[in-house]
Amino acid sequence: MIFRQLFDRESCTYTYLLGCPDTREAILVDPVIAKVEDYCCLLGELELDLGIAADTHVHADHITALGDLRDRLGCVTVMGERAHAACVSRAVEDGDSIRAGSLSMSVMYTPGHTDDSYCFVMSDRVFTGDTLLIRGTGRTDFQNGDPVAAWHSLFDRVLALPDDTLVYPGHDYRGNTVSTIGEERRHNPRLQVASAEEYAALMRSLNLPSPALMDIAVPANRACGKPVSGPRKL
Ligand SMILES: [Fe+2]
Repeated sequence: MIFRQLFDRESCTYTYLLGCPDTREAILVDPVIAKVEDYCCLLGELELDLGIAADTHVHADHITALGDLRDRLGCVTVMGERAHAACVSRAVEDGDSIRAGSLSMSVMYTPGHTDDSYCFVMSDRVFTGDTLLIRGTGRTDFQNGDPVAAWHSLFDRVLALPDDTLVYPGHDYRGNTVSTIGEERRHNPRLQVASAEEYAALMRSLNLPSPALMDIAVPANRACGKPVSGPRKL
């Protein structure tokens, strides 16, 4: 597989480019609108055709490139069914597969950070969005976030993947790039809890400020990053 981990410094977002070496079809996971030129350039350099652009969830901290990529490259846009994003070409649900050439990711519904959070699982790696970060986890205090649901998603599903599964998160703020399930289970401070209740108490004690772009990004992202009629009250 052709694989690139791309970074948006503005929002500390990781975007992943996956390419099939045989058919030259590609998938972009969590692309950022400000980086569309860079993606088009890299796809050209690597001689890849973008088949699919997929978001792990409706982001609150940056605007998605799904709409722009579909307009420019004619790719299929994918979000989870729970995102209620009427703009996407395909809404996926737990157990579905996202395929391009020989690439295949299975969709795992992992609510908690938001109620539309999904992980995309491959044989050796998982794209965790904001469900599991490196030595951290996604906040659970907006967009129908729920720390008890997050605990179940983490412990019943994500951490049930094999220990050597590579963890590629949706963000990192400290320069970490990749981890493994086993490493996170042992060393992620948010995961050293005995129960869902303990995790919920930990998450409720964080008192984080709202993301600066939230009122703009969330409605825009439900429209695949295309302009909407001004910021809406959430
Ligand atoms: Fe998020």
